[in-house]
Amino acid sequence: MTHFTPDESMPTEERRNDLLILSRVSAAVSGLGDLDAVLKVGLDKTLEYMDGIQGGIMLLHENGRALKYRVARGLSTEYAEQMRLEVGEGLAGKVAQTGRAVLVDDISEEPGAARPHLIDMEGLRAFVSVPLRSRERILGVMNCASRVPHHFVRRDMLLLHSIGDQLGTAVDSARMYEKLNRSRRRYWRIARRLIVAQEEERERIARDLHDETSQVLTGLALKLQVLKEMCDLQNICDDRFRQVLDEAHASAKQINREVSRVITDLRPTLLSTMGLVPAIREHVESHLKPLGIEVSFDFQDIKPPPPPEAEISLFRWVQGAVGNIIKHSNAGHVRVSLRRTGDEMRLKVADDGRGFDVDLLQEGEEGQGTGLLIMKERLELVDGSCRIDSEPGRGTTVIARFPLK
Ligand SMILES: Nc1ncnc2c1ncn2[C@@H]1O[C@H](COP(=O)(O)OP(=O)(O)OP(=O)(O)O)[C@@H](O)[C@H]1O
Ligand SMILES: [Mg+2]
Repeated sequence: MTHFTPDESMPTEERRNDLLILSRVSAAVSGLGDLDAVLKVGLDKTLEYMDGIQGGIMLLHENGRALKYRVARGLSTEYAEQMRLEVGEGLAGKVAQTGRAVLVDDISEEPGAARPHLIDMEGLRAFVSVPLRSRERILGVMNCASRVPHHFVRRDMLLLHSIGDQLGTAVDSARMYEKLNRSRRRYWRIARRLIVAQEEERERIARDLHDETSQVLTGLALKLQVLKEMCDLQNICDDRFRQVLDEAHASAKQINREVSRVITDLRPTLLSTMGLVPAIREHVESHLKPLGIEVSFDFQDIKPPPPPEAEISLFRWVQGAVGNIIKHSNAGHVRVSLRRTGDEMRLKVADDGRGFDVDLLQEGEEGQGTGLLIMKERLELVDGSCRIDSEPGRGTTVIARFPLK
């Protein structure tokens, strides 16, 4: 049995050739985010440079103790399924334990080989096993076998060892990528559910406000109106009394208007009855004009309009942008435009206010800028996207894009 020692000297031509093979295997697996693809492509590319060789890649199970084949070429399914090893068991198990590659001229003669009946059944003779390693951890082994003895030389083992290191790194990245993807999927699921829950909750609060609070307030305003009329009829002319009554009546009407506005914000009925454009126009005008902010619009007729779930996301996005203008911008003028550009719709809200440094925001502390983040996520959930253009002193423009296919 031969172990790998790194101080091997090799003629330049051979070394160049091996480096070429190594870089080709490495290029083939680089950028593959899927673990199975990394293993299959890595093994196929490796075996492509070795005539008449079978092989496979065994990965360590998550618990770090069991080793089994994840991909095999030229080996029977029975062999690949039954050849399960503990770390330290058999030749491949030793490689996984020590991280040292192994080469044997005839594995069927090796007393240390595990499952000799499987090896006989498969007719394996010459055998090389190299570790797959990444960040000092062993992730598995790659085995190559020939059905004739004395097939491999030390050079093969050196080359396979280097390939093993490359594959180890690729396997590690693919696993991290898969983990990241799983977390992202989980995140999307939660985000989607939260948004649905938020809409349902808004609907419920709007309904309660409309059916109860608003009714009571309307009743109160009416009663105060009646009181005023009774005063007039009975000629009660106490000025102070009359003034308080007028104020109470005005307050009741004002609160009622405020509640109606809250209801509209929570449940934009115009959106379902008239569509996106009137709903946006109404929202922008009713929120910005009373603050002395000028508004202008440039709306193109978009046919067919986006589906309802996208419209509600786009409307909520405008609400977020308007909220920020009120809270942060100190703007004098706001322009809202909606245009079709090719196959996409662009909704733009531009203010001429104080602006801000977008880069600082993105690098900012956690929790900062959640409003903009939620606006972006909501759009992404319906396949849209958004961008912020802003600079201190030069206003802010937020642009939402939505595909119209
Ligand atoms: N139109 C704007 N003009 C000036 N600054 C803005 C504008 N929009 C956003 N900003 C800046 O970007 C920051 C992040 O905005 P974001 O909406 O994410 O959070 P927020 O408004 O501070 O809090 P939240 O929306 O969660 O209540 C703001 O704190 C503000 O500094
Ligand atoms: Mg905000």
